[in-house]
Parts: sequence; structure tokens; C-alpha cells
Amino acid sequence: MATAILCAIRVTTAQQNLAVNWSSNTYGPDGPWNAITINVGGNQNSTDIESEQVSIDLLVGSYYASYIPSSSACRAYGPQCGNGGVWDPDTIPIKQPPPNIWDAPSFINITGTVYPGAVTIGTAGKQQTVYDVDLASIDTFSVKYPNEVTAAPELGFFALNSGMDKEIRALSDAKGSEDPWIVAGSLYNQFIIPSYSYGLQIGSAALNYSGSLVLGGYDKGRIIGPYTSCAGYMTTLLDITMDVETGPSPFSFGNASKLLTNVLGQPSSLSVKPDPMPPGLHLPAQTCSNLAQKLPVYYDSTTNYYLWNTSDPSYEQIINSPAYLGFQFTPAPGDEANVTIKVPFKLLNLTLTSPVVTRPVQYFPCIPFDRTPADQWRLGRAFLQAAFLGYNTHTNTMWLAQAPGPGVANEGLGLEPQDIANSATTLEVYSDKTLFADSWAGHWTATKATEASNSTSSAPADPTSTTTTNEHQPGISGGAIGGAVVGVVAGIAIIAAIIFCLVRKKSKQSTLQQSSDEGLEDTEIGPERGFRKQQSTSEGYTFLEMPTDHEVEELPNHAESKELPTSMRVYELESPLNTRR
Ligand SMILES: *[C@@H]1O[C@H](CO)[C@@H](O)[C@H](O)[C@H]1NC(C)=O
Ligand SMILES: *[C@@H]1O[C@H](CO)[C@@H](O)[C@H](O)[C@H]1NC(C)=O
Ligand SMILES: *[C@@H]1O[C@H](CO)[C@@H](O)[C@H](O)[C@H]1NC(C)=O
Ligand SMILES: *[C@@H]1O[C@H](CO)[C@@H](O)[C@H](O)[C@H]1NC(C)=O
Ligand SMILES: *[C@@H]1O[C@H](CO)[C@@H](O)[C@H](O)[C@H]1NC(C)=O
Ligand SMILES: *[C@@H]1O[C@H](CO)[C@@H](O)[C@H](O)[C@H]1NC(C)=O
Ligand SMILES: *[C@@H]1O[C@H](CO)[C@@H](O)[C@H](O)[C@H]1NC(C)=O
Repeated sequence: MATAILCAIRVTTAQQNLAVNWSSNTYGPDGPWNAITINVGGNQNSTDIESEQVSIDLLVGSYYASYIPSSSACRAYGPQCGNGGVWDPDTIPIKQPPPNIWDAPSFINITGTVYPGAVTIGTAGKQQTVYDVDLASIDTFSVKYPNEVTAAPELGFFALNSGMDKEIRALSDAKGSEDPWIVAGSLYNQFIIPSYSYGLQIGSAALNYSGSLVLGGYDKGRIIGPYTSCAGYMTTLLDITMDVETGPSPFSFGNASKLLTNVLGQPSSLSVKPDPMPPGLHLPAQTCSNLAQKLPVYYDSTTNYYLWNTSDPSYEQIINSPAYLGFQFTPAPGDEANVTIKVPFKLLNLTLTSPVVTRPVQYFPCIPFDRTPADQWRLGRAFLQAAFLGYNTHTNTMWLAQAPGPGVANEGLGLEPQDIANSATTLEVYSDKTLFADSWAGHWTATKATEASNSTSSAPADPTSTTTTNEHQPGISGGAIGGAVVGVVAGIAIIAAIIFCLVRKKSKQSTLQQSSDEGLEDTEIGPERGFRKQQSTSEGYTFLEMPTDHEVEELPNHAESKELPTSMRVYELESPLNTRR
């Protein structure tokens, strides 16, 4: 009985999203970039964990595990190494193959050793300590910038579960598997957050627009719908355009499209990975050249970057105008319209600093990527300044959407953290078409005429748009489960939890079957179940498969601790489809 009660408590304890602190420091040398702050160190037996922890700033996005600089790794480098803080573990390393990362678009080569450590993460309002997280202490690391300058990164990287490839093993929410035990997975496994998921919007350090990272949820104030979504980490970029949101165009050509070309220089769609680890737009050289030809930028053969020609009069005009680079993606499953994510040029006026260059210069972050077949085109931090990226591990759903500009309070549309249910494949978002221009109004100067700038505030209103819900999965729509059911489910949750706990072992197999049938209706699942195919929405492109072995491994772990909510459809409580309107 004691077990049953304990189990009931675990299931019914409010699991809530956890927002993460962002640092007041910003980092380069190709940013400036925002970073998160976490506390690292100590273990279960610590009597005073706070005194044993150090505060560390990390860039969001990693492979395998979170990588944290050590003072010994930094000894070999100049003073910028470890600017974000260093951590010197005093625990015993985990017997695991040493994680080495060589990420070509990030120009980075890291070797590390994995140690268990405690992490305290959250905000002043709510923070959590998780123990025994696998943290990779950096032994050696270097970044080789395009001009061959080699340096140490200023700070390490925080793993979100941004992996995809076979070698990127960040999928486990269970200690003891061969995957690293990462922060979001352990928070989920310990019933602290409702799902092994995240919502990320990195904001703009140059504009003092702080980032947003919510584990087990997302900030609704950082998305403007409609979003695109897909299974896995790759999405289809259809085209890149240039246009202006309001007022006259600052470009002599008005607007432009068909700027995305493949390695042969032909207009083409590309399978791309939105990825916060690399800095730029890592695309075919021909695409960068197309963009540069339309802008006051030139390829500088000393730095090997595209630099803004700051003495060209159109430079300031373009940067300060409501003009944007538009990234057109395929619609979410079930939607018709392509999704365009607009990256205002204001965000593409980035700065190279020491040690890449001796004096700061403004660069345009299209970085020609000499991609090997095993690698992917990436849309890195420069792109994600203007985009929202979310991912739910259990449903293998990635969401990508327009993010608002800084807004009136440098909080986008306003702080509005929401949970992501474990079974979620959709998000509730605002879709008002005027929100984008409004959120940028304080930072834009419409081109030339004052009449034009007046028209900024009277951008065409969409009468039908308020808060709308993107519903891409008819299989679990509100029609199937009425609002009344939701209330009943809440009432019986505790009783059900006890029953469930008592019969858990016996029913494990059938629960598993049921949950995968219910939760994943729109994804193709192979006969051996867990083998999930990408929903291919574009023709002729091969998508990388989800590492299927993980899916198969993970399901039993979910069954241990999490199946009740799924099989009882308690998750409907948290679904925006049913609880709102
Ligand atoms: C905590 O203390 C227990 C009992 O002394 C010991 O078995 C365990 O290994 C310690 N854990 C850590 C992480 O040091
Ligand atoms: C990465 O660094 C390690 C250790 O410094 C070195 O042995 C290895 O050759 C480097 N790899 C690449 C691809 O540069
Ligand atoms: C988050 O920031 C607040 C306010 O600065 C601070 O009190 C808290 O300790 C920080 N928490 C973490 C985990 O960094
Ligand atoms: C681009 O410009 C052309 C002609 O200047 C105009 O007809 C068209 O509507 C514009 N397209 C967009 C998307 O603004
Ligand atoms: C920068 O722009 C100025 C003015 O248009 C022009 O004279 C100059 O040649 C440009 N410099 C480069 C490197 O393109
Ligand atoms: C470009 O960025 C630099 C560095 O943040 C800033 O000083 C400059 O004013 C920006 N240029 C424009 C036109 O906003
Ligand atoms: C989506 O974009 C593609 C490629 O640019 C275009 O061919 C197609 O017509 C667009 N679809 C819609 C519904 O606009």
C-alpha cells in the first residue's frame, strides 16, 4: 500500500515546466550571443550543495552531453577561455567512451571526460537540483575559424536533446542506459517536468533581448503561428526570399525570391537542421553568394566571412528598415500554407571580435558550408534569433516558428510559460498577423517617407485572428474526447494511479501497445514498433531517420514511470485543444 500511495503522489504531483535563467553576459567572437546560467557541482551527499556549486554560463545546443570548460583545459589558451566559468569535477569519471565532438559548421573540436555532477537549474522563482547528471568536462577544445585562427571557445555548451544522428546520443531519460543522462531527461524522469521536451528562443544579445528556454514546456510569448512541425530534427527549406514587412522596400529590386540554390547553383529546396550550436547560416556557397549580391556585403578573403560594407549608404538603411530575409518551410502536416520565418536584417548585423579579428567588424552570417554527405545544412544561432524551436522527445516532434521581436518589454509578446504534455504533437500559439511588425516597431525605421512609417502602425489587421490553435493531429482532437471527460479524468486520476501502480507489472506490455497506438497516430510506425519514418513532405529529398534503436529502448522506461498519464489520457488535461475554449 505504501508503494501505491507513493506512486499516486508521484503521478499526481504537479509536474510543471521549468524556465531557465539567462546570463546578463553576452559572448562572441561571432555574436554577440546570449547564454544560459546554471549551477554545477556537488552530489547527493552534499550537506551544502550551494557552496559546492559554481555558476556557469553555457551556450544552448550540444551533441551528446553538456560540455563544460575545466581550468586545466583553459590553461593552454588565452584569457578568453573560460569567460563563461570553469568547473573542475572532483567525482570519479564514468566509464564511457570519451565523447569527442568535431562539428564542422561550428568549427569546433572538443574532447572531454564524462563525470557525474549535480546541476541546479531554473529561475529565481523556481529552481531544481538534479543529481548525477552526466557532464562532460572539457579536456581539450579548440575552434578553428574560417580564417584559420585557432582559439578556445569562451564557454561550453548545454545539451537539450538537440541530437539526431546515431552518434548523438542524447535521447535517454533513464539513468543507466548507454546514453548520457542529461538535464532535461533527468528532470522528466524525476517527475519534475511533464515531458522530455523544450522550447527555445535565443533572443538577440545585440538588442538586449534575452533568450527563453523552458524545459518541459515553452513560452507562448515567443512564438507567432502558424508553425511548421515534423518528425525528427530535419525540416525542408523551400526557398529564401528578401522582402519588407511594412512600408516601401529599401531594395532597388523591391523583393527577391529563388535565392536558395543547391551546390550546383540550381534553385532547389534543401533538407536543413535548425541547430543552436553552430553560429551562422551554413548553406551552399552559391546561396550565400546569391544573398550577398543583393546586399551591401562582400566576401572578405582575409577573414573568409561576408562583411557588411558599412560605408555603403544602403547598409544602415537596410539594417534599420523592416526588411527581412524570409525562410520558407513546408507546412506542418495537415496545413496547406508554407511557413515563412522572417529574420530582420537588424539581427544579421553581427560582429566579429578578437581573436578572429583584431578590430570589431560587422559580418553577414551566411557561411558557405562545404558539407560532407554525412553532415547536414544548418540554420544556426543567427537564424534562431528570429525563430522558435521546440522539440518533444516522446513524440519525436520538432516545432519551428516565427519568433516575435523584442516587443515593448524585451520579452517578445510577454512571458507566458506553458507545459508541453508528454504526448504533445501540437502547441497553442498566437497567430495574429500583426504581432510580428508590432513586436519590432521600436527597432524599425521605415524607408524614406514619413507617410510610409505611419503605415507601419496600421498594418493590415486580420479580423479572424486572436489566439488560435494549430491542430495538426485530428486523431486526438477535442471531438474525440469531450470537455466533460477531461473533468472526470482529473477526478479519477488519484484512484487510477493506485490501481495502476498495483497492476503495473502485469499490464506493462498492453499499456505499451496502447500508448503507442494512441499517442502517435499520425506517424508511421514500422511493424516492429518504434521504427518511425519521417513524414516526407517534399519530393526527392532523403531524410535522415530517427535513431530507431533509441525509440525501442526508451519505451519500456516510459512504461515504468509514465504510462499511466498516457493510457488514462490524463494528458488531455494539459492539452490546449481541450482546456481552452
Ligand atoms: C553517498 O553516500 C553513500 C553512503 O555513504 C555512498 O554509498 C554513495 O556512494 C555516496 N554518493 C556519492 C555520489 O558520493
Ligand atoms: C581534435 O582534437 C584532438 C585532440 O586535440 C586531435 O587528436 C584530433 O586530431 C582533432 N580532430 C580534428 C578533426 O581536428
Ligand atoms: C537564477 O537567477 C536568480 C536571480 O539572479 C538567482 O537568484 C538564482 O540563483 C539563479 N539560479 C540559477 C540556477 O542560476
Ligand atoms: C514583389 O514585387 C512584385 C513587383 O514589384 C509584386 O508584384 C509582388 O507582390 C511582390 N511580392 C511580395 C511577396 O511582396
Ligand atoms: C562599399 O561601398 C562604397 C560606396 O557604395 C563603395 O565605393 C565601395 O567600393 C564598397 N566597398 C566594397 C569593399 O565593396
Ligand atoms: C550593427 O551592429 C553594431 C554592433 O552592435 C552597431 O554598433 C551598429 O550600430 C549596427 N548597425 C546598424 C546600422 O544598426
Ligand atoms: C510553397 O512553396 C513552394 C516553393 O516555393 C511553392 O511551389 C508552392 O506553391 C508554395 N505553396 C503554397 C501553398 O504557397
